[in-house]
Formats: sequence, structure tokens, C-alpha cells
Amino acid sequence: MKVKINNRTENYRCVWFEPESGIIKIINQNKLPHKFEIAELKTYMEAADAIKTMAVRGAPAIGVTAGFGIAQACVQAPKQNFTDCLGKAVETLKSTRPTAVNLFHVIGGLLNKINDMGAIEDKEKAIEIAVFESQKTANETIDACKKIGEFGNGLFKNKYKILTHCNAGALACVDFGTALSPMRIAKYAGKEIFVFVDETRPRLQGAKLTAWELLNEGIEHKIIADNASGYFMQKGEIDLCIVGADRITANGDVANKIGTYEKAVLAKENSIPFYVAAPVSTIDFNIQNSNQIPIEERSEDDVLTVKDNKKDIRIAPVGSHALNPAFDVTPAKYITGIITEIGIFRPEEIHKLTNAGQNKNV
Ligand code: MRU
Repeated sequence: MKVKINNRTENYRCVWFEPESGIIKIINQNKLPHKFEIAELKTYMEAADAIKTMAVRGAPAIGVTAGFGIAQACVQAPKQNFTDCLGKAVETLKSTRPTAVNLFHVIGGLLNKINDMGAIEDKEKAIEIAVFESQKTANETIDACKKIGEFGNGLFKNKYKILTHCNAGALACVDFGTALSPMRIAKYAGKEIFVFVDETRPRLQGAKLTAWELLNEGIEHKIIADNASGYFMQKGEIDLCIVGADRITANGDVANKIGTYEKAVLAKENSIPFYVAAPVSTIDFNIQNSNQIPIEERSEDDVLTVKDNKKDIRIAPVGSHALNPAFDVTPAKYITGIITEIGIFRPEEIHKLTNAGQNKNV
């Protein structure tokens, strides 16, 4: 992704692994947009903590970071009880965030590879496999996002006005993004587009992260309050909605950032196409019913306070409490299409994709 720093433009991934030092590096998303900081994660525990505290976030980026965390665990586990230590790292990383399925697909895929190649008790061999496979996952994630961008761009006419929710950009996916990738590709193709960016309370991923990415790319946009999108839809100002996904069930229901469901219902009411952009690995073929998707409940502080880089400012009366589900589920009937790296599908078609990307982050 393009990042403008002191009048220079540089290219960054949101997460990468340096095998020589064994350090994972991330753009610390809790510091954006006002401070661009690269954080170093030296152990799998630090990787787990970065996922939990959302210094790195977004379904595919969580998966990739966890994969690098497994590689670190292989390097750092003692030879004598290697298998036990690796098992502990797997449990720690899996317990960070429950909703995005990419985390479980990447960790499960890596463990299968280590097992299949007879390396579960062989530290040196396991390191080789984990480092290679986790890097491969990161690269494949980028390739998939680029393809999603190409398919998604085909939906945009010149001068289209597009609504997006949360951040499904390069910050959420190593590079390019899912929902934001078609916008990048449209811009590179010379199309004029305009993006309505939902602020995305309570953590403001739209106002803080999506706006920062669009600004760096020179894509025209404005941030709107979450409760303003119906107003703009009703006035005919939005041509298309596009969001990411944390988990898609085989019947095409989509778990994504809290508030997505409301946008999809409003879009249908106003006859606006509503697209979900996600790699095939975001489909959870083991779940038939969206009630089975674990929905993360985060701290009430996110709702009761406004955060900047330095301190939290309490906005609610002391004594009031809050509920803070981080995701909701949009039923398939509200979704026009799911944009994947292998094409655009109607939600009722996606059960056919079973072998196209399981256990991978792409
Ligand atoms: O809680 P977050 O910020 O990790 O939630 C992110 C989202 O809901 C994204 O839309 C989703 O992960 C898709 S990212 C390509």
C-alpha cells in the first residue's frame, strides 16, 4: 500500500516477517492515523497480544500474523519439549479473536503441513516448513486481494459513489485489501470514484484507517457518521455498497463488522447493490447456520469512551454500562454478490466452492 511520509511515498505491507531475526513487523494500527509506527513483535506471545489489542486487525491480516507467530514459536520452542510448546503457542494464538475464520484456517493449515511432513517432533524441519508456508500465505493473500480488486473494479462505472463500512483495506489484508482493492484498481485504471466512509463506531476503523488509506491513494472520499448512510441512500447518492467479511457460511450469510447488517437492509430497501469482498478462505464450510458463528464481545470501554493516541475520554455517565458486540451477521438475502479471487458469486452459489481455498488464507 502507498504510505505518504514526509512528502515521500513508500510502499508497505501491514505485516511482514524477517526470518533472519525472527521478528514480525506490523504497522501499529492503534496509532493511526496520526502516527505511523512500525512495531516489532519478537515472540508469538507478542504476536498474540498485537492481534488481541488490534494493533494488527482485519480477518486476512490476523491469519497471516498468526502464521508468522507459529513460525516464531517453532524457532523459540526448546528441542526437548518442542511438540508441547508448539501446542501451547497454537492455543494462545487461537484464543486471540474468535470471529474471523482466517485465523483458524491458517493455523490449522500450517499444523496439517507440519504433521503431514512428519515434522511435529522435528524442530529444524518444522521451522523450515512454518517459515516457508507462512511467507507463502502472506504472498498468496496479496495475490488473492489483487484479483478481488480486478473483479470488483468491473462493477464500478466511472463516477460511481460507493459506500464502505469498517476497514477492509490493505491494513486488514497485508496489501490491497478486499473491499478497498477494487477502489485501488479503479483508481489505477483512471476511473473517477467517490467513497462514503462509515466512521464505524465504536473503534472508528472507517474514520481512522479507511480514510487514511484512501487519502494515501488519492481516492476522493468523505467520512460520514454511521447513522447517516440511510440518508444518503434515500437521496440516491450511493450507487453501490461494498464491505469485507470475517466469516461466510456455506449458505452465504456474512459475519462482518457490527453495523454491516443495517447497511445491507437499508441498501435492499433502496435498491442499491450490496457486495461482500472476501477470499474463498473466509468461507467456513463447517458451519451451516450463522447462529454457530462466535461473535466477539469486546470491552465496554470502546463504547463508553473516545480514544486518541494518548488517553481515553469518557463520554458516558459514570455508572452507565455498555454492550459491545464487534460483529453482526447479514443474511444472504440482502447480499447481491460475493467478490472472491476466482470470480463473483451469488450467495446461494458459494457452497459449490468447497475445494477452492480451504485451510489457506487465500
Ligand atoms: O474488528 P476488526 O477491525 O478486525 O474487523 C474488521 C472487519 O470487520 C473487516 O471488515 C473484515 O475483517 C474484513 S477485512 C478484509
